[in-house]
Amino acid sequence: MTDIFTPSRIKELEIKNRIVLPPMVAFTFAQEGGFVSEENINHYEQMAKGGAGLIIVEATCVNHKGKLSKDQLEIWDDKYIDGLSKIVKVCHENDSKVFIQLHHAGLRTSEDVTEDIVSSWDYDDGKRTARALTIEEIHKIQDEFVNAAVRAEKAGFDGIELHGAHGYLMTQFFSLKVNKRTDKYGGSLGNRMRIALEIIEKIKSKVRPDFVIGIRMGSNENSLEASIEMAKEFEKYVNYLHISTGFDNTPLDVELPDDFPCNWIVYGGTKIKENVDIPVVVVNSIKTKEQIEYLLANDLADFVAVGRSQLADPSFVNHIKNQEEINKCINCRPCKWYRDGRKCPARVR
Ligand SMILES: Cc1cc2nc3c(=O)[nH]c(=O)nc-3n(C[C@H](O)[C@H](O)[C@H](O)COP(=O)(O)O)c2cc1C
Repeated sequence: MTDIFTPSRIKELEIKNRIVLPPMVAFTFAQEGGFVSEENINHYEQMAKGGAGLIIVEATCVNHKGKLSKDQLEIWDDKYIDGLSKIVKVCHENDSKVFIQLHHAGLRTSEDVTEDIVSSWDYDDGKRTARALTIEEIHKIQDEFVNAAVRAEKAGFDGIELHGAHGYLMTQFFSLKVNKRTDKYGGSLGNRMRIALEIIEKIKSKVRPDFVIGIRMGSNENSLEASIEMAKEFEKYVNYLHISTGFDNTPLDVELPDDFPCNWIVYGGTKIKENVDIPVVVVNSIKTKEQIEYLLANDLADFVAVGRSQLADPSFVNHIKNQEEINKCINCRPCKWYRDGRKCPARVR
């Protein structure tokens, strides 16, 4: 029976256990200009020492005009490779595999960064506005993702994760709520996925064969059924799927089984897992050993991502291994880590 410490593989990459640190920005840690700081390095070193088999480094922007926050890490130029390679080194030295999440915020780009905010289509919800990208601009952004992946490989990462979740640019193409294009990047599911599929194909042609490519996507993108269709299509292109929420947080229209010990976001991940043959990572508010064991033992997930609970207790995995008490995340709303990780009230210093 699969348990937390049963090693597994994504493509050929062996991962020592089933716990993933999901991508989580630590805005106050980056240096001016989006460079990796000592604090970023120490943060990931502490996470790797804590025992996670796979670390996915936070959303890192492929274009400085698509930044979520001016404090975000960047990867749009070769000058970032050296700093990022130091994160890779501390993860590998501590026996964790490491990917990096590649990101463009689209209509959620910070107004501190640019006034020219772009999306799949003209957008105005009364709070945010964006203009539709031209085809030439879509191609430029695709190249930026590809070049970022090549830099990630040069920095020593074991793989990349495309950020196709949480309302950012890719979801703005996937979602019918935003994407009203009538050209080859809008309309049918295949057309709405095209931006991502073309990026993946180009990345594959430029990186070594064993470099891992995955995508984070929602199980609620348009509907669960539509998300399953998306996942089945992505399965032909990527090495793993990381299932969270899509353009927005609209809950799935399904009833959870009485004995299911997690929320609807995790449940959506398990439904995708049922329909694909590549590894699936599930996530959201998973905080206990018992929840993780349930998901693995029942073959509902291949990997379990534990976010805030590892921020609150960087030794979360080792504590489980050694049967020691976990220092519990207390669910601050919003998580203090968005503003300053040093202020996490649960964190053991
Ligand atoms: C401080 C913070 C930063 C986050 N940054 C990212 C990010 O960079 N990319 C991403 O896809 N999700 C991000 N998320 C979402 C997490 O990856 C994860 O999906 C979410 O926290 C739910 O999992 P959890 O309950 O185990 O924390 C962030 C969450 C937090 C709390």
